[in-house]
Amino acid sequence: MTLERRLPQETRALLLENIHPDATALLSKAGYQVETEDRALGEDELIERLAEVDVVGIRSRTNVTARAFAAAPHLLAVGAFCIGTNQIDLASASQHGVAVFNAPFSNTRSVVELVIAEIISMSRGLTDKTRQMHEGVWDKSADGSHEVRGRRLGIVGYGNIGSQLSVLAEALGMSVWFYDTEDKLALGNAKRCSSLEELLEGVDIVTLHVDGRPSNRGLFGEAELARMRKGSFFLNLSRGFVVDHAALRAHLESGHLAGAAIDVFPSEPKGKGDPFVSELRGLPNVVLTPHVGGSTEEAQQDIGRFVAGKLHDYLSLGSTSMSVNLPNLVLPPNAGEHRVTHVHANVPGVMAAVNSLFASHGMNIEGQYLGTRGDVGYAITDTPSDFSDEVVDALAAMQATIRLRVL
Ligand code: NAI
Repeated sequence: MTLERRLPQETRALLLENIHPDATALLSKAGYQVETEDRALGEDELIERLAEVDVVGIRSRTNVTARAFAAAPHLLAVGAFCIGTNQIDLASASQHGVAVFNAPFSNTRSVVELVIAEIISMSRGLTDKTRQMHEGVWDKSADGSHEVRGRRLGIVGYGNIGSQLSVLAEALGMSVWFYDTEDKLALGNAKRCSSLEELLEGVDIVTLHVDGRPSNRGLFGEAELARMRKGSFFLNLSRGFVVDHAALRAHLESGHLAGAAIDVFPSEPKGKGDPFVSELRGLPNVVLTPHVGGSTEEAQQDIGRFVAGKLHDYLSLGSTSMSVNLPNLVLPPNAGEHRVTHVHANVPGVMAAVNSLFASHGMNIEGQYLGTRGDVGYAITDTPSDFSDEVVDALAAMQATIRLRVL
């Protein structure tokens, strides 16, 4: 168990991997000491640096392992300044009472804009036209070129990205059909399809925006491609393992599909300059991009602002809204003088014990909030000014206590 009682100016944040300067600005303005590094750290170096750090910010190339959590006694929170959190041992974070935050929708708009650009590009054969021009070939013709206005767009997966795409596509004059396994609110004039088959048979363009749950592996193969209308376009900017690329190549080569735009691949090169191998290389009217759907400077800036804001809300208020591992509590400002935040093992009797401790010291509770998630419970207790250190010591000594903070 660790007890933390720190003033903002005593809180130390380490931001790695060239996180956007807006994050540093926000945390510095809140009074924290912020150090930055423009690179990722290996496990040993990270462990060394975490010894004196309360908050760490990473992107996708720094792994925060169980060993790192075990060696970081002061660590309160990890900010993943990106979308994915696979690089963080979340179970270990929870066991140590460390809150993890990410930025799940900061790059939504960037993905949507690229989808729109690619739909127009395929409809006008831009990739082939520009290649020909660079090769010195002038071929002015309207054959096979179409407006997107009036075309029917089929969105598979109507989440953050799919639903925003729906709005922008309608603004361009497209009509939108969507299919989602959950019952999602249809925006604007979009039509909800009751099956994937209904969507595939009825639209001119199919775009995938499903999440990466394991059951989506191979979601789109020969059978699904075969159901699409002749001459339609296919886009995938979700996850590479969702689509069978050999089947897609066959449908493009046969002319059944008129074009494709693919941003994500079953296996992607690790670093810049590594060779890119794919069945889809060398095909006409196929837009290939290196997983850059969400990669814009605006998205990076928004990620910096969003995650730094989440870290500050956690440090100052105890709010775990949208934490990826701790129970999510959206908290109002402190109703009392002190706020005790208590990450504990989710076992019977913890709240009864906490409350009888406060009562036995004659302390009133001004506000109290509890959330549980798996093995972990998170309780917030707002108390008046006559606060007793004995209560803190007794709470700290409880067997179920994982992490205690007094704000
Ligand atoms: P989200 O979680 O908000 O939405 C996913 C939607 O797909 C949910 O509504 C879910 O119910 C639905 N869904 C899941 N499986 C389905 C299935 N088999 N059939 C129909 N609907 C299904 O996710 P968000 O933020 O919209 O992201 C969508 C995808 O885009 C994710 O896979 C994400 O990893 C990817 N992404 C790619 C980026 C890039 O750079 N290319 C950048 C950002 C996200």
